[in-house]
Amino acid sequence: MNTKTAAEQTLYGGGAAAPAKERKPMTLHRLREMQAAGEPITMLTCYDASFAKVMDSAGVDCVLIGDSLGMVLQGRSSTLPVTLEETAYHLRCVTAGNRNLFVLGDMPFGSYQESKEQAMRSAGVLMQAGAQMVKLEGGGWTPETVRFLVERGVPVCAHLGLTPQSVHAIGGYRIQGRSADGAATLKQHARELSDAGAAMCVLELVPATLARDITQAVSMATIGIGASKDCSGQVLVMHDMLGVTQGKLPRFVRNFLEGAPSIQAAIERYVVDVKARSFPDDALHGY
Ligand code: KIV
Repeated sequence: MNTKTAAEQTLYGGGAAAPAKERKPMTLHRLREMQAAGEPITMLTCYDASFAKVMDSAGVDCVLIGDSLGMVLQGRSSTLPVTLEETAYHLRCVTAGNRNLFVLGDMPFGSYQESKEQAMRSAGVLMQAGAQMVKLEGGGWTPETVRFLVERGVPVCAHLGLTPQSVHAIGGYRIQGRSADGAATLKQHARELSDAGAAMCVLELVPATLARDITQAVSMATIGIGASKDCSGQVLVMHDMLGVTQGKLPRFVRNFLEGAPSIQAAIERYVVDVKARSFPDDALHGY
């Protein structure tokens, strides 16, 4: 029985979730229909129950419990220190506030690189914490792992271009696939991941022409961040798009809270602009 007074429920945001606009829980099947119909998929990172409720009410399609939590929640200088248990904890928090959002869990650095079996164990932890899909970074060696997970009932989102877990190998947070060779390799990796059964692929910090080319060449949905408006969908880190992140931001970020009356209105604007393909504007936010 809920023993909180109405005032306590408002104060602490507890009790039943405010009715998210009448909509059905998002599914992979529905996401595939959206991709086929050319309707952009909206995704944001999310780490707790309160923001999950707001994003759900604002009409977001998918949330990613990203290892960006290491930077935006924990104040670390990279995503590398994030652990599987920390990710599972935030997944449980988001799942507690969620009704309709499709939930992706990010596989942390070191939780899937060792073997396919290790990847399956880690995916199991995230799925049991509420993930409906897991995301893992990289190409070349990853398709075998993706196939192994997909065959065992784990939907997978790949992640190509700038892969933050490889920041030390790449030599910084820099645009990927600029050279002809780099672009060809990325396109090849995307094809292999799609053929291995990945349902989605985040494309981070790649030239707009390459993102478009990859989107047309693969059957998986591409989710751009600093890629192009012509990806199958878009994702941003919540703290970046709400103007919380301090310092110099990458050019692909837009502060949706600027001029908006509330956080929910800012997120609704993000949804409307992504659906209309007016965000990102490749001239302003692209490469
Ligand atoms: O960890 C994360 O938030 C991500 C997004 C930037 C795509 O991987």
